[in-house]
Amino acid sequence: MVNTNYGDKMKKTSIWLDNKYKSYPKLTRNKKVDVLIIGGGITGISTLYNLKDSNLKVALVEQNKIGYSTTGKSTGKLTFLQNDLLDKIRNKCDDKTASKYLKSQLDAIDKVTKVIKKEKISCNLEEVDSYLYTNNTNEIENIKDLERFLKANSIKVYNDKAKLLESKYTINVKNTYIFNPIKFIHGLIKETDDIYEDTSIKKIEKKDNIYICHTEKNTIEAKYVVIASHYPYFTIPYLFPMKTSLEKSYLSASRYKIEPFSLISYSNPFISMRTYEDYLVYLSNSHSVNTDTCDKKNFNELLKKIRDLNLEPEYLWSNIDVMTNDGMPIIGTLKDNILIATGYNTWGLATSFLAGTIIKDIITNKENEYINLFDPNRVSLSLGSIIKSLGGYIKGMKNGTEYTCPHLGCKLIYNEIEKAFDCPCHGSRFDEQGKCISAPANKNIKIDK
Ligand code: FES
Repeated sequence: MVNTNYGDKMKKTSIWLDNKYKSYPKLTRNKKVDVLIIGGGITGISTLYNLKDSNLKVALVEQNKIGYSTTGKSTGKLTFLQNDLLDKIRNKCDDKTASKYLKSQLDAIDKVTKVIKKEKISCNLEEVDSYLYTNNTNEIENIKDLERFLKANSIKVYNDKAKLLESKYTINVKNTYIFNPIKFIHGLIKETDDIYEDTSIKKIEKKDNIYICHTEKNTIEAKYVVIASHYPYFTIPYLFPMKTSLEKSYLSASRYKIEPFSLISYSNPFISMRTYEDYLVYLSNSHSVNTDTCDKKNFNELLKKIRDLNLEPEYLWSNIDVMTNDGMPIIGTLKDNILIATGYNTWGLATSFLAGTIIKDIITNKENEYINLFDPNRVSLSLGSIIKSLGGYIKGMKNGTEYTCPHLGCKLIYNEIEKAFDCPCHGSRFDEQGKCISAPANKNIKIDK
């Protein structure tokens, strides 16, 4: 019998967000800029940082608070040993493409660690070994094949024992890191940066090659618009819901003192762990948002796994990631001067900083070796994504509340652990007062008192 006592001491928030950070004003006047960045997570802030020496006038708007969406709910890992993702890219594309992706991740990690040193950002950066393990006999050959692939790409691979868990086969690599992602992005922001919180873009119009971006009461005119909001609020252009899918995971942080490490299982059901000071961050129960809408059941299963290790969570939260069919991110020009960076397949922390450098190079007309690799226009419509969206719609009709998501009209499901209304179609979230706190929706809902 699962002990589902959540207790008053268990905070239903991410460990990274349980702190006071600097806040920014709401936009209250019209503006004209060269570049408007929509979204104040690690992608948006990294883009802002990378555009600093471009002489362009840049503003950033965030509909909630800086880092409160995906960045603040991630595991905070900087590693190129990313479960079975390299194998997915090898299967969907080829080994050459997977090698380029691997190189992008090594470059991305290098860039993040260098900027942390350069800017003297205090964000608990630690160099650790990353472990990849399986307990499934059928996956041993897959990991051995991945090991050969990594070695062929000049990566040193070891076979140390997995931490904390039983394993049938394990590999580990060095030169990977863990950090506090929220402290990192706040450390990237400078006093002079033009940032607005609680400011949501409701509509974008194009007039004479200028984008007029409407908030509730004001406009921002921009030559370039960067969508860094995890998932765009608009469906046309690009038809995002028909090209991507969303994965939800459940996380916890419990007091536990152990030598620092990072670990993940090869494939689903995923277990991911990392240390943070004297805590263990533990992730499990990843699934498509469209197929499983029972948050309480998933949190209960996570609790059981933690308590089987004789630990008691102090923090519980969930996170949603955008997944692509070929396993690679979507970074670059969407249409004309609208750019986007998303679809990190759960590995966005290092990639999003790299995305900032790619976007800067596109806007400033410079070459970048990853522009073609991550080109958004390589992604075609996917029957799987369409079916998943429809599945979410049906789940909402069956298990949803009376409240309807302003994005594309799915019924919202009440998440009683995190006290929020979650959309089973594309992952928008609303608090109990109806405020939209996660894209793609960009409008609040009215909650009956
Ligand atoms: Fe798309 Fe709700 S309908 S997020």
